[in-house]
Amino acid sequence: MPDKKLSGEVFYPPENVLRHAHVKNWEELSASAEQDLEGFWAKEAHELHWFEHWDKVLDDSKKPFFQWFVGGKTNIVYNCLDRHITTARRNKLALLWEGENGDFRSFSYFALGRETCKFANVLRALGVQKGDRVTIYMGRVPELVIAMLACARIGAMHSVVYGGFTVEALAERIEDSQSKVLIVSDGSYQRGKVVHLKAIADEALQRAATVKSVLVVKRTGEDVYMESGRDMWYHELMALPIAGNNCQIEIVDAEHPLFLLYTSGTTGKPKAIVHTHGGYMVGTYTTLKYVFDIHEEDRYWCAADPGWITGHSYIVYGPLLNGTTSFMYEGAPTYPYPNRWWQMIEKYGLNILYTAPTAIRGLMRFGEAWPNRHDLSSLRLLGTVGEPINPEAWKWYHRVIGKEKCPIMDTWWQTETGMFMITPTPAVPLKPGSGTKPFPGVKMDIYNEEGKSARPNEEGFLVINTPWPAMLRTLYNDADRYVEQYWSKYPGAYLTGDSARRDEDGYFWVIGRVDDVIKVSGYRLGSAEIESALVSHDAIAEAAAIGLPHEVKGNAIHAYVILRAGIQKQDGLIDQLRSHVAHELGPIAKPEHIEVVDSLPKTRSGKIMRRVLKARALGQNPKDLTTLEE
Ligand code: PRX
Repeated sequence: MPDKKLSGEVFYPPENVLRHAHVKNWEELSASAEQDLEGFWAKEAHELHWFEHWDKVLDDSKKPFFQWFVGGKTNIVYNCLDRHITTARRNKLALLWEGENGDFRSFSYFALGRETCKFANVLRALGVQKGDRVTIYMGRVPELVIAMLACARIGAMHSVVYGGFTVEALAERIEDSQSKVLIVSDGSYQRGKVVHLKAIADEALQRAATVKSVLVVKRTGEDVYMESGRDMWYHELMALPIAGNNCQIEIVDAEHPLFLLYTSGTTGKPKAIVHTHGGYMVGTYTTLKYVFDIHEEDRYWCAADPGWITGHSYIVYGPLLNGTTSFMYEGAPTYPYPNRWWQMIEKYGLNILYTAPTAIRGLMRFGEAWPNRHDLSSLRLLGTVGEPINPEAWKWYHRVIGKEKCPIMDTWWQTETGMFMITPTPAVPLKPGSGTKPFPGVKMDIYNEEGKSARPNEEGFLVINTPWPAMLRTLYNDADRYVEQYWSKYPGAYLTGDSARRDEDGYFWVIGRVDDVIKVSGYRLGSAEIESALVSHDAIAEAAAIGLPHEVKGNAIHAYVILRAGIQKQDGLIDQLRSHVAHELGPIAKPEHIEVVDSLPKTRSGKIMRRVLKARALGQNPKDLTTLEE
């Protein structure tokens, strides 16, 4: 228990959790990391395997192009798989998987290692080399994990595109990354329906010409078009002699790029965030170990999608680095009934559940009777990520799911940060709605417009003041934008794009984005992307998209469109436009509401003033809106 009494509503760590926690004294760990940042991360890195030791933990001579574990040689996959296969973990379950239709599969560390090697051999045989980009577009199936690991094993960079995105989003990402290989599944199950991923990919490939080989994983067994000379079945390739059980691992520099992950920013095109083998490995390993307090016997479930950073760091890499058993579920939380998640927690005896506030709010709507039908006593820790959690949802999660004995780890981080940045550990007293404080070794602040630290409870720009190992290294093929976007507003500080305040106890309260990023159900979308999808429709001349508060989704997309000259508003046009956005970008980007207008508010230089639209929709004076926006 801390000496000082904390203000507001506080939930102290339960004795049973604290007793076993890796970190019992958070303040002490934090202080030691602050004193010796490099020593802190070096100690963690020593728990992993390096083919060659690093010369320098942190090289900041070319900042903001920071480098970590410089001179070190490793491969993250060696630490995810090979390292465990030589120990008693060889036969431990690495991955448990349940399909939406009830299918079940499991992989021991040995089996996951074997499948990864086989597929890595296939990729090599197809000519994929170190540094090449491979796009992966699938539902939540084990082959997605195998494909990511296989790329990394041979030093290729994976670029996973979320299976909920569609044609234009996929085409743009393939083209930008110049991928020669696309790995896709025939389809995936969502809410009892089949999503025709291969058909979407075929359409995208007509717009993106770089791909020479398409490898198709059979999931639904539906008929799909297979282009001769280009398309091959995954299972057929995996049965060939080239898919041997052993695959020489590519030993890479710590700074060798591991993957690209596209995310939405303020301006037009999505940005390709670059993460590396060494620093990302140390960052995800350490944060997962301490925050979700991974123990040997745990069964851990991160219910995100591997297509987003949460899945990369905390379904795939973090859990495997820690040698834990990770559970993955293919489908929707409410299919066929709203007890699906609770049923699986009981059935597999899961100990940790990590999800998003939107999922909690969505499940809350169905009432307590659904979870109460199940024995959830295996749960020890809960987690949340993606957007601020409202105290009502926090308390429901804590009381109904966690039975008041499971602390909730509210983790603030981003695609760019790669790892948890503001987060409690089980030893930290919690306040519902706050991610508490920065992780040991991470220094964050809240700046006012002048770049001075904000006063307690004053809202300002959330910034990061120290480099951290899992930080993005650059934007792929766009180093200038990397500097401009993140490091130019305040010298020496990384700009997160969020606004936040810090209370009198030093607890951080993240408020939301201050740029044109919209968080819909925790998914990150850019106003510009939605607008460009709308404008690609024949009837539309101009468009503006904003996010407005929504009870379950957090934010919902509202769009304003100007019709082209000569086009009349007809019945059905709005529905057509909504479907068009869903077709181009994905169902998650489908606007909730579209209004036809004659003009849009603009600055003198012609930039749409989304802030004004937002104020109008909320019935506010634009001046009352956050003063942080331009
Ligand atoms: O606005 C913050 C919000 O999600 C943004 C990052 O989105 P993305 O890169 O897609 O990564 C999401 C998963 C790591 C942040 O800038 N955000 C994320 N976690 C939280 C959050 N907002 C409040 N509380 C959180 N715990």
